[in-house]
Amino acid sequence: MSLASSINPFKFASDIAKGEYFADREKEMRDLRYQLKQGARILIYSARRYGKTALIMNVLDELVKEKHQTAYFDVSTAPDKSLFISKYKSLFIKAGTREWFFDWAKKNLPKIKLSLGDLEIDLSGLSDSDLDVAFDRIIDLPQQLGSKTGRRVIVALDEFHEVRSLDSKRTENLLRSKFQSHDKVSYVFSGSKHHVLQDMFETSGSPFYKSARIFELKRIPKDAYAEFITSRFKKTKIVIHKDQVGEILSKTDSHTYFTQQLCHELWDVCRVREHFVVQNEDIPTAITQVVLNQSAVYEKTWEDLSLGYRKLIIGILKIGGRQVWSEAFKKETRLSDGAIEKGLKYATENYLIEKESNGKYQIPDVFFREWLEKKLQ
Ligand SMILES: Nc1ncnc2c1ncn2[C@@H]1O[C@H](COP(=O)(O)OP(=O)(O)OP(=O)(O)O)[C@@H](O)[C@H]1O
Ligand SMILES: [Mg+2]
Repeated sequence: MSLASSINPFKFASDIAKGEYFADREKEMRDLRYQLKQGARILIYSARRYGKTALIMNVLDELVKEKHQTAYFDVSTAPDKSLFISKYKSLFIKAGTREWFFDWAKKNLPKIKLSLGDLEIDLSGLSDSDLDVAFDRIIDLPQQLGSKTGRRVIVALDEFHEVRSLDSKRTENLLRSKFQSHDKVSYVFSGSKHHVLQDMFETSGSPFYKSARIFELKRIPKDAYAEFITSRFKKTKIVIHKDQVGEILSKTDSHTYFTQQLCHELWDVCRVREHFVVQNEDIPTAITQVVLNQSAVYEKTWEDLSLGYRKLIIGILKIGGRQVWSEAFKKETRLSDGAIEKGLKYATENYLIEKESNGKYQIPDVFFREWLEKKLQ
């Protein structure tokens, strides 16, 4: 038997893990499913790349199996209202709803040309105020679908912070009041820009303030992740020792994205070497390979940083992220309090560093850390 024809059992990056590729999250799936069926509006928070999008997609798949109507929308794919309208409406046109949509559009979007075949709508030549009316109506589409079918509609709005690019507070206010009035629809919001979402949902005076239950996604517990990793290797007839799985999880600190990335690479090392039992030296090879694969990106990130920001990151690496206000840190980096403050804000907002709940700053990308340590040697 050869591994050449097997498919890598680990997904990462834009390849979203679903079904058997998806690790653990059983409790989160259960809770979310339950709350969404009850009609809740939920905001899923986490640090970057913990698995919010994958969790949402897996929950929606389960809800579809239970015959709920669902829609997943990545708001960043619709940077203006016209695109938003055409893409959003398509989510609700399924085999059984085409005729209904056609009638609905004739009644609700009288100024818009609708092509019968693919039900595309022509928004060209519409005035700004007519576009606003169309946007307003299209936002009500899931509610009307729910009323028509008598079945709850579950809508996921990922990268939700991007609604801010549509046109500021006016849109946010409109969405907030619409969503609140939609009793046939449950909404789940998420996105990669944690600080913007936080501003939208947790700053008093913001339209979405207190409008959703906050669901914080943590890291996958190490024992559950270990079980998953072992079973994924086993699936392709590769044996991995418990200690080796422990080494992987300790390297990545159980961070979803980096664990998936390392396991994906390790599996590939085994494929090339035709190892049906993972050898200890395969793990450092896989780590080196991941760093190598990413090195052009890391190089560019580093080159684009100003000197002050670089000093701050080096300080965190050398002195430690708990000591950013210490004399030792200031001595090492030669940065003023103001420069440290500015640097922490910039690096956090650009995901180069992360503040842990205990107040410690760290570089979340373990492979970037590895790359940087080598560079600074
Ligand atoms: N439970 C899981 N099991 C296996 N792979 C997972 C799991 N959760 C996420 N992944 C994978 O990890 C990668 C990152 O996950 P995902 O994109 O869902 O994270 P995210 O929190 O939405 O990231 P961002 O903050 O950038 O939006 C994806 O390739 C995804 O398929
Ligand atoms: Mg995401």
